[in-house]
Amino acid sequence: MLPYDAVIFDLDGTLTDSRPGICACTQYALNKLKLPIPPDDILDKFMGPPLADSFMRYCGMTEKEAARATDLYRERYIPIGWKENRVYPRIRALLSALKERGAYLAVATGKPQRTSETVLRYFGLLPYFDAVAGPAPEDLHADKKDLISRVLPSGRRAVMVGDTAGDIKGAQDCGIDSLAALYGYGAEEEVLAQGPAWSARTTEELCALLCPGMAQPKGAFVTLEGVDGCGKSTQAAALARRLHDFGYAVRRTREPGGCPIAEEIRKIVLAKEDGGMCPETEALLFAAARAQHLKDTILPAVRRGEIVLCDRFVDSSIVYQGGARGLDTEWVKTINRPALREGAPDVTLYLRMNHEAALARRLSASQPDRIEQAGDSFHARTEEAYETLWRENPDRFIAVNADQPPEQVTEEAFSALFARLTERGVV
Ligand code: TYD
Repeated sequence: MLPYDAVIFDLDGTLTDSRPGICACTQYALNKLKLPIPPDDILDKFMGPPLADSFMRYCGMTEKEAARATDLYRERYIPIGWKENRVYPRIRALLSALKERGAYLAVATGKPQRTSETVLRYFGLLPYFDAVAGPAPEDLHADKKDLISRVLPSGRRAVMVGDTAGDIKGAQDCGIDSLAALYGYGAEEEVLAQGPAWSARTTEELCALLCPGMAQPKGAFVTLEGVDGCGKSTQAAALARRLHDFGYAVRRTREPGGCPIAEEIRKIVLAKEDGGMCPETEALLFAAARAQHLKDTILPAVRRGEIVLCDRFVDSSIVYQGGARGLDTEWVKTINRPALREGAPDVTLYLRMNHEAALARRLSASQPDRIEQAGDSFHARTEEAYETLWRENPDRFIAVNADQPPEQVTEEAFSALFARLTERGVV
């Protein structure tokens, strides 16, 4: 184990992959100034050092022009650019494990202090840090040494983790060791030429160096449920994107289907023309598809430490084949034993919505399938059955009002889901 009990991190290119936002905003500023966009390898050099310095160095600007370009950059960065960002995989787990071991953690970044705190807060990282140092907005040429020295704790052995030669030099100027994050934006030869004490090519290597013996990633099985038309597919896509940006490995799947054999069963069970299928056959087909889906897709992904986000699962059978089609719910549970015993969801996001409003929304969007064509009382019973399931499983269910603008539903669903995952140690 490395002999440090204080770790100071750079932000962009070390904790988060902020390239998409930084590039888009740099291009925005240059377009506004009618200047050519530099090639990708030059744009990479904008990650880390003070922006104004990069505009002067790589675009030949004067001090005054660079200040104007920085203002234009912020015009896009403040409303949009800062969210075009992603926490690197395993970083959240590393911070959590270091904190548990009593380490002092800080950030020293060239990004303005307030923006840095906003980014860290949004991605749920701020609580891990004892201190954050970034320049004031008017300080266009902040020096890394000053930034690091502002968060250096006394009486601890500190290491600086950063992805550019500037981070390594800043650490040396402060008299502390440095660890090069080679997965970031700094050109490898340049960073290594600065002589860091350690280096990591991936965040996995970073974890192994800073926190050996750290637990393997913990996965989770999350299902989305709700009446037809409640907006599950839209929410599944938005939530998957958000989880990915938060640094999680995500596996999106859906029922019926989710693996080749179950997709074949899906075609039979949802076929519009097949009006003669009896409820028992329908229930058995859903259960058969689910058993395969669980074994082929869901359980292996959870074991690999991924978050499986599944559009419908066993609750749909309890609600549709039990509650709505009127089959004995206990029998439905019996044929779904593999799903209830070995693969029960950790969290179920229930998108609550009145069935009439939901169905109207669904029918305006596309042709109904066989199940959606069922009568109104069928859909009323599905809503009722979901409400009962929710009341019976308060620890597993998270209910979200789905009758709101989709962005609002995503906000509420994600923040509840993220809190639940954190609580369960899925970081
Ligand atoms: P799908 O096209 O996936 O609809 P949605 O996007 O609304 O989920 O079709 C799934 C249909 O199958 C839906 O009407 C609910 C029904 N269903 C059951 O009846 N039982 C089940 O176990 C599952 C998984 C789905």
